[in-house]
Amino acid sequence: MKDKIKIYLSEVESFTTDTIDQLEAFRIKFLSKKGLIPALFADFKNVAPVDRKELGQHINTLKQAVQQKIVSIKESIDQKTVSTNSSIDLTLPGESEIGTRHPLSIVRNEIIDIFSRIGFSVSEGPEIEDDFHNFTALNFVENHPARDMQDTFFIETDPDILLRTHTSSVQVRIMENTQPPIRTISPGRVFRNEAISARAHCIFHQVEGLYIDTDVSFADLKHTLFYFAKELFGEKTKTRFRPSYFPFTEPSAEMDISCNICGGKGCNICKYTGWVEILGCGMVDPNVLENCNIDSEKYTGYAFGMGIERITMLKYQINDLRLYFENDIRFLRQFESTN
Ligand code: DAH
Repeated sequence: MKDKIKIYLSEVESFTTDTIDQLEAFRIKFLSKKGLIPALFADFKNVAPVDRKELGQHINTLKQAVQQKIVSIKESIDQKTVSTNSSIDLTLPGESEIGTRHPLSIVRNEIIDIFSRIGFSVSEGPEIEDDFHNFTALNFVENHPARDMQDTFFIETDPDILLRTHTSSVQVRIMENTQPPIRTISPGRVFRNEAISARAHCIFHQVEGLYIDTDVSFADLKHTLFYFAKELFGEKTKTRFRPSYFPFTEPSAEMDISCNICGGKGCNICKYTGWVEILGCGMVDPNVLENCNIDSEKYTGYAFGMGIERITMLKYQINDLRLYFENDIRFLRQFESTN
């Protein structure tokens, strides 16, 4: 009997197959009711008591070997079935969808492009600012009501630190560090404590423009912005300047363009006036130049600032600011661009 078990064991150890049918035949041969192992247990009754312990162990070892063999062969057959029957073809190239730029990025890039063509560089400043760069240097005197024009997010523990309310703060940083001629635009994110609605958001984007040199005049400002409006909104675009007030420019103005939706005839976007406002501008106040260590006797300059959201709304006829921030793929897919 001992020899028989030995022969079976070596048969079990060398057994191999890759079909379920052969594995099943193997199982039946050894483990079924009429199989070899139950037969061994049946013969066991005739074994002399002294040999029983040893032989019992041998039969159990054989039984375990058969069971383990079945489990391990089954596992390897299952794995092969998954990899050959699976619909996943790992050799195929990845499926990719080409992304599109966000409309605000498209318009920002276009604005940068237009000003780059006439010699403006691009500069940036910090979003977390101090009072000096956001207000004081820009001629907002302490307690001046103009500070209320912009609902500022202050850092609670330090009222000197705030989230910049406009990119005009970058003007100050540039003038502090550079002597004229300066000709630069500064795109960036700004923050105001506003309730979110279709027309207002607490985070939005601006582009600031600054030109400082000897003999810069209001005519230079008008000409530059006229060129800009035509480049961005089309050759037929008309512009007009209205007097306005900003603490950091004197004189100050706001620029309107002829409504590009109705062509100036009047619609609900231009509130039936035929004109839409797109930016604020003016000649840099001499106080601001002096605050930034630039000689106001020698140099003059102009500045302008525009909101990218507003310009994008006009360009693409978007009627709700919140769409920019929701990342709805159906909205974003409409803006295909190469720049
Ligand atoms: N900083 C102004 C604002 O956020 C926009 C602005 C107006 C910027 C006139 C300028 C300017 O540089 O000259 O409303």
